[in-house]
Amino acid sequence: MKILNQFKMELLARSSNESFSRVAVAAFVSQLDPTIEEISDIKTAVSEAVTNCIVHAYKEQLGYIYITVRILQGNKVSIKIKDKGCGIADIKQAMEPLFTTAGGERAGLGFAVMQSFMDKIYVKSQVGKGTTVIFHKQLKSR
Ligand SMILES: Nc1ncnc2c1ncn2[C@@H]1O[C@H](COP(=O)(O)OP(=O)(O)O)[C@@H](O)[C@H]1O
Ligand SMILES: [Mg+2]
Repeated sequence: MKILNQFKMELLARSSNESFSRVAVAAFVSQLDPTIEEISDIKTAVSEAVTNCIVHAYKEQLGYIYITVRILQGNKVSIKIKDKGCGIADIKQAMEPLFTTAGGERAGLGFAVMQSFMDKIYVKSQVGKGTTVIFHKQLKSR
């Protein structure tokens, strides 16, 4: 798939960076003239993935979140959100709706939300090494 444009950023996994990251991704994608709904879907998915890096990947320690946004030929967007945190032992189980390791504080719906707002989501993870989540979204051509 031909890459027409690309943006990378690296930010500390602090909760104060969650809203910045989703707005920055949305601002980059806005060059495709997306609909308000498309932008809102992208922001929601990014917010869930970034929150997972902050809450689950690094827990007490502080690490980085690496985000790559690509604009692909045919009005497609791909967004990669990566951390070098604790990793996920069982990805299939982690992606099940309502599954959470965070006790009562979280709903366990993050992956379900990402899946419902994006066309495709790929998750790669290695315990002790980190997690990478990749989203693909086809925007309407305008
Ligand atoms: N980046 C990550 N690093 C480590 N574990 C993760 C990460 N993202 C998700 N997880 C694991 O997957 C589970 C499900 O994630 P999610 O569906 O977003 O629900 P929630 O965040 O509400 O627990 C989390 O509880 C956590 O155990
Ligand atoms: Mg979550």
